[in-house]
Amino acid sequence: TRIFISRDAGALALGAEDIARKIADTAEEKGLDIEIVRPGSRGMFWLEPLVEVERPEGRIGYGPVQLDDVDGLFDANFLEGGDHKLNLGLTEEIPFFKNQTRLTFARVGIVDPRSIEDYKATRGYEGLRKAIDMGPEEIVEAVTKSGLRGRGGAGFPTGIKWRTVNQASAPQKYIVCNADEGDSGTFADRMLMEGDPFMLIEGMTIAGIAVGATKGYIYIRSEYPHAIEAMNAAILKAREEGTLGDNILGSPYSYDMEVRVGAGAYVCGEETSLLDSLEGKRGEVRAKPPLPAHIGLFGKPTVINNVLSLGAVPHILADGAEYYQEFGEGKSRGTLPIQLAGNVKFGGVYETAFGVTLGELVNEIGGGTRSGRPVRAVQVGGPLGAYFPPTLFDTPFGYEDFAAKDGLIGHGGVVVFDDTVDMAKMARFAMEFCAVESCGKCTPCRIGSSRGMELMDKIVANEDRAANLIVLEDLCNTMKFGSLCALGGFTPYPVMSALTHFPEDFGADPSRLEAAE
Ligand code: NAI
Ligand code: SF4
Repeated sequence: TRIFISRDAGALALGAEDIARKIADTAEEKGLDIEIVRPGSRGMFWLEPLVEVERPEGRIGYGPVQLDDVDGLFDANFLEGGDHKLNLGLTEEIPFFKNQTRLTFARVGIVDPRSIEDYKATRGYEGLRKAIDMGPEEIVEAVTKSGLRGRGGAGFPTGIKWRTVNQASAPQKYIVCNADEGDSGTFADRMLMEGDPFMLIEGMTIAGIAVGATKGYIYIRSEYPHAIEAMNAAILKAREEGTLGDNILGSPYSYDMEVRVGAGAYVCGEETSLLDSLEGKRGEVRAKPPLPAHIGLFGKPTVINNVLSLGAVPHILADGAEYYQEFGEGKSRGTLPIQLAGNVKFGGVYETAFGVTLGELVNEIGGGTRSGRPVRAVQVGGPLGAYFPPTLFDTPFGYEDFAAKDGLIGHGGVVVFDDTVDMAKMARFAMEFCAVESCGKCTPCRIGSSRGMELMDKIVANEDRAANLIVLEDLCNTMKFGSLCALGGFTPYPVMSALTHFPEDFGADPSRLEAAE
C-alpha cells in the first residue's frame, strides 16, 4: 500500500516527519507492507499533517493527524480506507481542492518531487519538446498570446519581456528566476519549488531557448532550505537525464542553471537589487532604465521572472496559448495560485482563474476567520498592499480591478484580520517595515519612512492630529511618486488605505478597541 505524507515545509512544521516515522515503524512492527511517498503539499494547511492512502478509487485522506492518532488509524484499518474520525474521504473531492483550476499546481501534492519518472509520467517535458520544435520566435509568440503577466506582482506581460531579450544581441544572456518570495502571507513559490521542481526547471529552460540564454540562476531566499534542497536535487537529476546541459533532449539547444541563496533582505526581491546580490554585491536598487532586459546580470540582457510566471510556461506550451488565455477576465488571463493566510479558517493555496471576488475568497473558500470573529480587514499583495474592508469584497481578483480601488494583487497573498485588529498599528508597521528594509538609495524612502513612523505616533497620540494627517498624506505622495522602487513607492498603499477605510482607528474613537475585547 502506498501512503502519501507531505514533505512540504508547512507540513513538516506541523509534524509530518514524526508522523511518517511513526507510521513506518508501526507498519514494520505489524508486518504490514507499505511504501511511504513524500510529495509536496495539497495546500490545505488546516488538514496538515495529512496522511493519504492509495486505494483503487483514489487517495483517501486522514487529517490533521497527530502522533497520538497513529495507533488508532491502524486499529481503524486506515490502509484500506477504514472509518475514523479523521477520515476525510477522497482528498480530491474536498471542495477546497475540487473547486480549483490547478494548471500551475497540477502536480503539487500528487507526485514525488524527487522522482523524474513521476514527472515524465505526468506530462513532464511535453512543453519543452513542443518548444524545441517551435523555436525561439514561436515560443515568444505563444507566451505573448497566452496573456501571461508577471506573477511576482507587477503584472508586466511576460511575452513582451521575453521579446525584448530575444531581440537584444549579446554574446551571453541569462535567465534569472526570482524566488525571493518576501511578501507577507505568500508561500506559493516555495510550495512549487518543493512540490514540483522539475517544472520550474522546464519553464526556465523554455525561457532560455526562447531568448537565446544558455545559463540560468534561481535566487532562493535563505529562509527556504527545503526549496533549496529540492531544486538542487532536481537540477542534478535533470542533468543526468539530459534535460539540462548541452543538446537538451538531443536538440541543438543548450541550457544549464544553478541555485543561488539570498541573505535575507526584502529588497533583494526587487529585480535590480537581486541582480546586485547575485553578482556578489550588497543588494541595492539600480535606477531603471536601463532595464534588466537590456543590461541585466553581469551587464548582459536578462530575463527575470518570478517562480509562478516561469512555472506557468510548461503548461502554456503543452496545452497551447489559447487554452490558457481562456481562463480569467479582462486583461488578467489564466490562473493565479492565491495564498490565503492570516486569521482565516481554511488557509492554504487556492489556484483559480482571475475574476473570483475577494469576498468569495475570504468568506466562502477561506471560511471566514479562524477566530470566528467578524472579518474587519484584508491585506492583499504583501506588506505593500492595500487594506480592504468588507465593503470592497465585491472586487474581482484581477490586476486592473484592484488598481481601480487603489490596491494591488501583487503576488496573490491574502492576509485576513478580524475585528480586534488596530489599523493605526498596521499603518505604523508599514512605515516601520519600510524603514527597516529600505536599501537607503533614495531619500523619499530612506528618510520618509522614519518620518512616517514619527507622524503615525503623533496622530495616534492625538497630537496636532488634523495638521499631522495633512503632512502624512503629503509624505505618502512624496514617497509614492519620488521613490526609486516599489518598496518606498508602495508603502503609502497600506498606510493610506488604513486611513481611508478605517479612520476610526486613528484617534477618532479610542474606546473601539476596548469594546471589541
Ligand atoms: P515594474 O513595473 O518596474 O517592472 C515589472 C517588470 O517588467 C520588470 O521585470 C521590468 O524590468 C519589466 N519591464 C518593464 N518595462 C519593460 C519593457 N519595456 N521591456 C521589458 N521588460 C520591461 O515593477 P517592479 O518594481 O519590478 O515590481 C513591483 C511589484 O513587485 C509590485 O507590484 C509588488 O506587488 C511586487 N512585489 C513582490 C514581492 C514578492 O515577494 N513577490 C515583494 C515586493 C514587491
Ligand atoms: Fe532603496 Fe527604498 Fe529607494 Fe527602493 S525606494 S531604492 S528600497 S531607498
